[in-house]
Amino acid sequence: MLIQVINGPNLNLLGTREPHIYGHDKLDQVAERCREIAETRGHTIEFKQSNHEGDLVTWIQQAIGNADALIINAAAYTHTSVAIHDALKAYPGFKVELHISNPHAREPFRHTSYVASAVDAVIAGLGVRGYEYAVEQICERS
Ligand code: DQA
Repeated sequence: MLIQVINGPNLNLLGTREPHIYGHDKLDQVAERCREIAETRGHTIEFKQSNHEGDLVTWIQQAIGNADALIINAAAYTHTSVAIHDALKAYPGFKVELHISNPHAREPFRHTSYVASAVDAVIAGLGVRGYEYAVEQICERS
């Protein structure tokens, strides 16, 4: 099974960006732990990040017919992007919306998600561990 993990804008700054909200781990460290979990169970993982909305849309489209499951932290685009919503609707595999923080407990502009209505599951507010839980759950479902 191939699991695709897609990360949106500013998540490349993980570790130094608002650590009181997002913690001290870097995205590479999160990716490594997810890889370990997936590979131990015989699965493959692809972990990507971009600051550009179109890249996220293209990667979701490329996952169609290629990836068996998708985890997406669209970051700020979660709250704005109809294009990402539409691309996710077109992706037929199992999909998880992931947030490190709990956007619902933050500013009102973070309370709307264009991703939530296009996915199967949502994980939020569990810190970067949420990525590992998402990978574990996807592996268990296979
Ligand atoms: C985030 C929450 C978003 O509101 C924010 O724009 C992010 C990160 C999270 O993982 O908690 O960049 O998706």
